[in-house]
Amino acid sequence: MKALWLIAALAATTGQADPPATADAPAAAPEAAAASETPAKPLPRLDLRRAHAPAGDAQAGKGKSEVCAACHGADGIAITPAFPNLALQKADYLYWALHAYKDGRMPESPMTPMAAPLEEQDIRDLAAYYASLPHPPPPADTAPADPIDPGLLAQGQRLYMAGDPAKGIPPCQGCHGADGRGNAQAAYSDRSGRMPYAAYPLLRGQQNDYLQTRLQQFHDDAIDASTNSRVMHGIGKQLDADSIKAVSTWLSSLKE
Ligand code: HEC
Ligand code: HEC
Repeated sequence: MKALWLIAALAATTGQADPPATADAPAAAPEAAAASETPAKPLPRLDLRRAHAPAGDAQAGKGKSEVCAACHGADGIAITPAFPNLALQKADYLYWALHAYKDGRMPESPMTPMAAPLEEQDIRDLAAYYASLPHPPPPADTAPADPIDPGLLAQGQRLYMAGDPAKGIPPCQGCHGADGRGNAQAAYSDRSGRMPYAAYPLLRGQQNDYLQTRLQQFHDDAIDASTNSRVMHGIGKQLDADSIKAVSTWLSSLKE
């Protein structure tokens, strides 16, 4: 019954016809405080302290992914460095990201019209499908890749692993994993069933330009979709252009 109440509350607060809530996986409830503090915002941000998302059917998702392949590649590896890879990304992260686009919580992008027609089941299936794909293989056409400045790579790796205390930047690995494959506590569930780290994204091998754009958006406070985007804004505002370039270049260079 509690889950039903949550569904009703979510639908009433956001005006959504199909809230991403089910009895087996309670949805993130909107933050009442955020809604009343920022009346200008059309939607309260998603509360992702309960980030665990309902499971989908990867096989069904594969069938639905044809339209996505035009930009994200048939194997989930984006066709240009400006678009994100989806292969091996965390299903919980993908699920909430798709809802954020669908609800209009993200800045306008080519993704906005793509997410609009997706139904709840499509979102579950697509999230399951992309999360099931193997880690990004090296792109086929990069045999004679431009040599990357080793100093830049070292700077990026240092920032990711150790942060930069002088600039107030914490180590990225604390939240995104020492290997960049997502939060080490992703499966952690507290006593009230919250899974606060489930939707922390994988960054390893992500596309360089996409990472830089995204980090700049966090820096500029351009993303206010969820409690998780608030967490990342806190980090992003400490990042200068130099740090963004270094850490993005290093992360995107990790191909295995
Ligand atoms: C026309 C190109 C295009 C198509 C087609 C497309 N996308 Fe996207 N997608 C993008 C772009 C560009 C972004 C980054 C948008 C931004 O800056 O917020 C993105 C972002 C995403 C993200 C967020 C990734 C992250 O790391 O945060 C997900 C998930 C996603 N797309 C899934 C899909 C799915 C599923 C489909 C098919 C239903 C699809 N996309 C179709 C261009 C596209
Ligand atoms: C305190 C935890 C925390 C730390 C430390 C942290 N992040 Fe994040 N990061 C997050 C969360 C949570 C998200 C998901 C935000 C969302 O859903 O909008 C995120 C999202 C991101 C994204 C977007 C991924 C995508 O696919 O769109 C990038 C890029 C990123 N972080 C890079 C970094 C870098 C680089 C650092 C280190 C300088 C860092 N993060 C440190 C918690 C953290």
